[in-house]
Amino acid sequence: MKYEISITKTAAPKPHPTDESKLGFGRIFTDHMFLMDYAADKGWYNGRIVPFGPIPVHPASTVLHYGAEIFEGLKAYRTVNNEIKLFRPLENIKRLNNSAERLCLPELDEEGCLDILKTLVELEKDWVPKSEGTSLYLRPFLFGNDPHLGVHAVKEAVFAVICSPVGAYYAEGINPVKIAIESEDVRAVRGGTGYAKCGGNYAASLRAGERAERKGYTQVLWLDGVERKYIEEVGAMNVMFKIDGKIITPALTGSVLPGITRKSSIEMLRDWGYEVEERLLSVDELFAAAEDGSLEEAWGTGTAAVVSPIGHLFYNGKEYTVSNNEIGELTQKLYDNLTGIQWGKIEDKYGWCEKVCNG
Ligand code: PLP
Ligand code: COI
Repeated sequence: MKYEISITKTAAPKPHPTDESKLGFGRIFTDHMFLMDYAADKGWYNGRIVPFGPIPVHPASTVLHYGAEIFEGLKAYRTVNNEIKLFRPLENIKRLNNSAERLCLPELDEEGCLDILKTLVELEKDWVPKSEGTSLYLRPFLFGNDPHLGVHAVKEAVFAVICSPVGAYYAEGINPVKIAIESEDVRAVRGGTGYAKCGGNYAASLRAGERAERKGYTQVLWLDGVERKYIEEVGAMNVMFKIDGKIITPALTGSVLPGITRKSSIEMLRDWGYEVEERLLSVDELFAAAEDGSLEEAWGTGTAAVVSPIGHLFYNGKEYTVSNNEIGELTQKLYDNLTGIQWGKIEDKYGWCEKVCNG
């Protein structure tokens, strides 16, 4: 079911970035955005693409007081054949609906949501950057917008999509990042909202992230919230370790975000003949492997982070260097194959890319 979408074009288009090597992440926005309203008695209505700008929110709005917000992150790529394609957009739409279910926010029709993303990207196609390593990042988000202070499932909501031309998420680019394992704060617990992509998870993670940054680390690696023993994920990515030839990644126990890059990486790794174990991995097991030399590579996976090598791991006063602080062979192969499919350099044999239009 497609939603009706009206289009009001901006009268004042912005200049496009001239130096694509300086895009960074999420600082520049395109000319238009998508907005749609929800009311319990009407369903979704008033789908519209309008000039990018502030969104009016009632001072008593549920999102401001009770954090009723979920979001997604996916990318549109300009392929080497100058086509504009989205990477596994239905996976993001399904995850958005799972997050909505957890937070009692209204869900979207999958086909209708895909049509919204494609319509917006086609309108903004000239904003999809051309240089290697760049893309147009789409940030769909959905928030409760009831104009009163009672705590209950929302009756009014807004769905919005904004777009940002981006380069690398980390200043390090494809160079290894330094990660600190967090032993004080926790991000999520089983039964909580860890598997949902909701703003509150990120708000709760900021204090530890800031502490780690002050000590020279890029992000924190979270441990499970109950025993504080098992590796979960990094602030903006899932993690994988190559130990003794096998790939080990934390299982999706409910407190970890089910990453789409994680899922795609596992599919590729298994296809290449690697044994991939999705299971509990304790910090003790990881550091025993680091000490006896069987920890061969470590990397993170995420839409913004792509495939990001981990060069240093810090925990409880000890720091370990992984693969000589260089990008490992398998990490590089994963990066090359994933981005190769996304940029149309390698055949998309898994059928992951969804064409939007010609560039
Ligand atoms: N974990 C967290 C906490 C994230 O924010 C992200 C980014 O979306 C990921 C993992 C990776 O998920 P994906 O590969 O779907 O982008
Ligand atoms: C993404 O990779 O899409 C994310 O949402 C990570 C982050 C910027 C929060």
